[in-house]
Amino acid sequence: MPIRQLHVSGLRNLQPLYISPHPCVNFLYGDNGSGKTSLLEAIAVMASGKSFRTSHLKHVLAQESERMEMRFQINDENLGDCELESLRLKSGDQLLKLNGSVLTSQADAAHWLPVQVIEPNTFKLLTGSPEERRSFIDWGVFHVEHNFMNQWKAFRKHLKQRNSILKQKDPDQLEVWNAGFIESAKAIDDQRQRYLRRFKPEFDRILSQLDDTIKVSLAYYPGWEKDSELSDILAKQQERDMVVGFTQSGPHRAELRIKCDKQPAAEILSRGQQKTVVAALKIAQGGLFQQESGRQTIYLVDDLASELDQHHRLALCKLLEDLKCQVFITSIDKEKLTDVWQPVASKVFHVEHGTINEENPE
Ligand SMILES: Nc1ncnc2c1ncn2[C@@H]1O[C@H](COP(=O)(O)OP(=O)(O)O)[C@@H](O)[C@H]1O
Ligand SMILES: [Mg+2]
Repeated sequence: MPIRQLHVSGLRNLQPLYISPHPCVNFLYGDNGSGKTSLLEAIAVMASGKSFRTSHLKHVLAQESERMEMRFQINDENLGDCELESLRLKSGDQLLKLNGSVLTSQADAAHWLPVQVIEPNTFKLLTGSPEERRSFIDWGVFHVEHNFMNQWKAFRKHLKQRNSILKQKDPDQLEVWNAGFIESAKAIDDQRQRYLRRFKPEFDRILSQLDDTIKVSLAYYPGWEKDSELSDILAKQQERDMVVGFTQSGPHRAELRIKCDKQPAAEILSRGQQKTVVAALKIAQGGLFQQESGRQTIYLVDDLASELDQHHRLALCKLLEDLKCQVFITSIDKEKLTDVWQPVASKVFHVEHGTINEENPE
């Protein structure tokens, strides 16, 4: 049972709320503008420090409020119980606590909340910048490899150092710093490659269950010419790197290329097919995380009815049910969800003008 209880106040139109979600499926229904997406957004912000709706968290704070507060009681099968608290002020100041102790890193909160979001804009995972797909791979690596965050921080430090030396145009200094850069770059690359080897078959399996007519392949690009040594590439690009003042090759330039018959999938697939592929990526990632960690993923699925047709909706819901994980799923009409899916274990919440009320089972 991941999120046992949650309290949110000062977030968009939501009235201060306390809910005890079901450990499996939570249906949230209500009119447009009632606050369904806002609740999912609250969970995403707690988990990642970011909203999937805006890059400016100040917009997430309720207009009339000076502060946004959240408190989650979490029960994780492997990690045990914890309480996460988050306080954000309009001024931009923020405080994050785990069991009453201040956290200095958002990653420590993220560790407790392995959240996957499927919402109307997630097709951007296919059509958006490589950064989106890098973050996608890194979610998977971060949640299964405990040292990944430290390796990533070490790499960022080396990259920053190398870039500042490039700007000084000092080739001798560069020689000295290259070794550390290459070592930390390879550590990141190794983890990503190993992860993707395990991820690909899982993705193929899930996509064929969601829609066996879509044929998509995944190819990893490490951020430098394939089959070349990074040291050779850095040597070759040194002059150019000095001209532009930054390092052009490395894991900060990695990419997951998603293709249909050698063409970028984003150029070939219909919007509906793109959404199906993205759903498959996310379900496969959460499923693999569960297999490897023995923990549960938390899925936030927004506006499913507008996302997929009934056939794909049903296939997706079945996969979510098979994962036996905690799901928060929204729709305008209750029937749009329950017509395709009647999970054995679920709670239904009605969202109305920013208040969320649990419905008694019929
Ligand atoms: N910062 C804010 N402060 C107060 N209300 C907001 C803020 N941002 C958005 N809203 C309002 O909150 C409501 C909730 O929207 P949303 O969660 O997207 O609803 P739903 O997903 O149910 O359609 C909308 O009516 C919107 O106008
Ligand atoms: Mg919405």
